[in-house]
Amino acid sequence: FMDIKEKCKSLGLKWIGGVGPEDAKVIVVGEALGREEEVRGEPFVGGAGHLLDGALRQVSLERSSLYITNVVKVRPPNNDLGRLKELGISISDFLPILREEIEMRKPNLVVALGGHALQALTSSSSMMKMRGSILESTLVPGVKVVPSVHPAAVLRNYKWRALLVI
Ligand code: URA
Repeated sequence: FMDIKEKCKSLGLKWIGGVGPEDAKVIVVGEALGREEEVRGEPFVGGAGHLLDGALRQVSLERSSLYITNVVKVRPPNNDLGRLKELGISISDFLPILREEIEMRKPNLVVALGGHALQALTSSSSMMKMRGSILESTLVPGVKVVPSVHPAAVLRNYKWRALLVI
């Protein structure tokens, strides 16, 4: 038995976990690492991260006070989560790690960025219906989740910029 972290490393994938204080009261969960994140070894430091920084400033949240992580802790082939299966891994392989990250910190709130984070945290598949509402996590019962559109989706469709903030 090899855990997912060892498995990813044995596949030559760079593993990049969450960043932020152990006692963060808000956890932000993205989707997977992009190219820039893989190079720099930190979540949300590329274009989507830049957009996220702006949105956080707008709502007066200090990035350094948040714990920022991703459902998938590696960069999928060509940034396509559908291609994880070529590597013999799947999104669900990463869920026990995400559960552990959240359980350890007992946050007041988890912000789910994008449909994959929403699905992983709440089993809901309807971002546009659920965004901005307070849901209970199914992954970690008792924990509150607020979903919002993924900043990378906002980059592709800038009229959604306001949706990210609310
Ligand atoms: N960068 C990340 O770290 N996660 C995403 O989901 C997108 C960009």
